[in-house]
Amino acid sequence: MSSADKRQHLNETVKNEIKNSVLCWLATVDAGGTPNVTPKEIFSYVGNDRIVIADIASSNSVRNIRAQPRVCVSFVDVFRQRGFKIIGTATVIAPEEENFAILGAELLQMAGKDYPIRNVISIEVEKVSRIWAPSYALFPERTEEERMESGYAIYGVRPL
Ligand SMILES: Cc1cc2nc3c(=O)[nH]c(=O)nc-3n(C[C@H](O)[C@H](O)[C@H](O)COP(=O)(O)O)c2cc1C
Repeated sequence: MSSADKRQHLNETVKNEIKNSVLCWLATVDAGGTPNVTPKEIFSYVGNDRIVIADIASSNSVRNIRAQPRVCVSFVDVFRQRGFKIIGTATVIAPEEENFAILGAELLQMAGKDYPIRNVISIEVEKVSRIWAPSYALFPERTEEERMESGYAIYGVRPL
């Protein structure tokens, strides 16, 4: 089996949860192995095997990826209290490259003209793992509605 065959993909559940997550956290390492993790709000997926993130102000992440392309991205739906962790290999795509407009189409729409995208960070997905809040194991009988109610209380918000 080739390494491409072992790759995991983004199914509909992962894609929905990307949409329900306000932001993701991108973890990279520099050439010396020092880790870096920062939030990115403008992120999405393309097809079944790619996460894309807008580099608007992410100089360290971009520099790290150029030196060491293995990355980890995690995101959670804070109200449903679950998310995913994705490991993959990233490339930095500059605006003059052919793929920028194709892979960055949704990011450009999300960011709008007020937030210029310097590069598209494109991550080829290799491994997808679930993240559950501990309450799923401790209180498995809770309904999604109850979890969301507790999320609203924790964050002091109500849905519109
Ligand atoms: C809520 C939030 C959302 C953000 N979204 C993005 C984003 O989508 N793209 C981006 O480049 N920076 C974004 N940033 C800013 C970066 O996280 C910030 O500039 C960070 O210092 C970049 O770190 P880096 O150079 O290590 O990547 C966001 C910051 C916050 C607090």
